[in-house]
Amino acid sequence: MIIPELSRSMLKNSLVLGLFAIVTVGGVTLLQQFTAERIQASERAAQLRALNEILPRDSYDNQLLDSSVLVQDPLLGTRQPMPAYVAMKNGQPSAVILQTIAPDGYSGAIQLLIGVQADGRVAGVRVVAHRETPGLGDRIELAKSSWIRSFENRSLSDPDASGWAVKKDRGEFDQFAGATITPRAVVGAVHRALQYFAAHKQELLAADRAPIAAEAAEAALEDEVEPDEVTTHSRAGAAATRDTLQTNDPQAEQEGRTQ
Ligand SMILES: Cc1cc2nc3c(=O)[nH]c(=O)nc-3n(C[C@H](O)[C@H](O)[C@H](O)COP(=O)(O)O)c2cc1C
Repeated sequence: MIIPELSRSMLKNSLVLGLFAIVTVGGVTLLQQFTAERIQASERAAQLRALNEILPRDSYDNQLLDSSVLVQDPLLGTRQPMPAYVAMKNGQPSAVILQTIAPDGYSGAIQLLIGVQADGRVAGVRVVAHRETPGLGDRIELAKSSWIRSFENRSLSDPDASGWAVKKDRGEFDQFAGATITPRAVVGAVHRALQYFAAHKQELLAADRAPIAAEAAEAALEDEVEPDEVTTHSRAGAAATRDTLQTNDPQAEQEGRTQ
């Protein structure tokens, strides 16, 4: 009979199609999950690489990424709470890495990671995203010049407050030939970060502070604005601050062109 044969064939085709759909959807779901986990793992590794650029790996023995406090202060230039990573060595806090924004670069916000040793000295500074002019302001990048290293081991008292400025403003830090605005902005941001650290050292370095749950930190970061048209110059640094540092603060951008 033709009709039962037809319906048998239709049933068979439907079953094959159904099975194909199940296998395909299942495969895609598994692939998505696998990819998401890989992305998360590589982002975490990139974050750690960025932090390790500032703090030598042997200067702490805790899981840096899992040991953070959320901080927010005008001195840091951030609008939302941001994680500050607390480095520990032998159970004692050894340093903190702050994420900060210099709002007054030539072309707007400059995103920075600033490491501060427990004794208040700068461990290191890295620019992780900016829009400064190539050949002029971009010498704040370590890849372009070693200027950013001039902060290492400096502190609030070395130099004193008047020295925390570029030489053109009678301070101690070099400006670049034909570009004073960018280094001026970075010097100011590092100085303010040190002031923040001095004012909040106890909370930041409280050794018995329970680390903030990663989810809480991530939830805070999700609210931040994705950097828009920001040139990122360190893959590691960019990942470290991806989603974390707002750079398209309209007010900051207005302040950015101060010439
Ligand atoms: C097209 C263009 C791009 C510039 N980019 C920068 C820059 O990225 N960073 C910077 O500090 N100055 C930059 N400058 C120079 C500034 O306008 C300013 O002259 C310089 O920073 C010196 O600032 P001062 O007068 O406060 O010393 C740029 C100038 C021009 C014309």
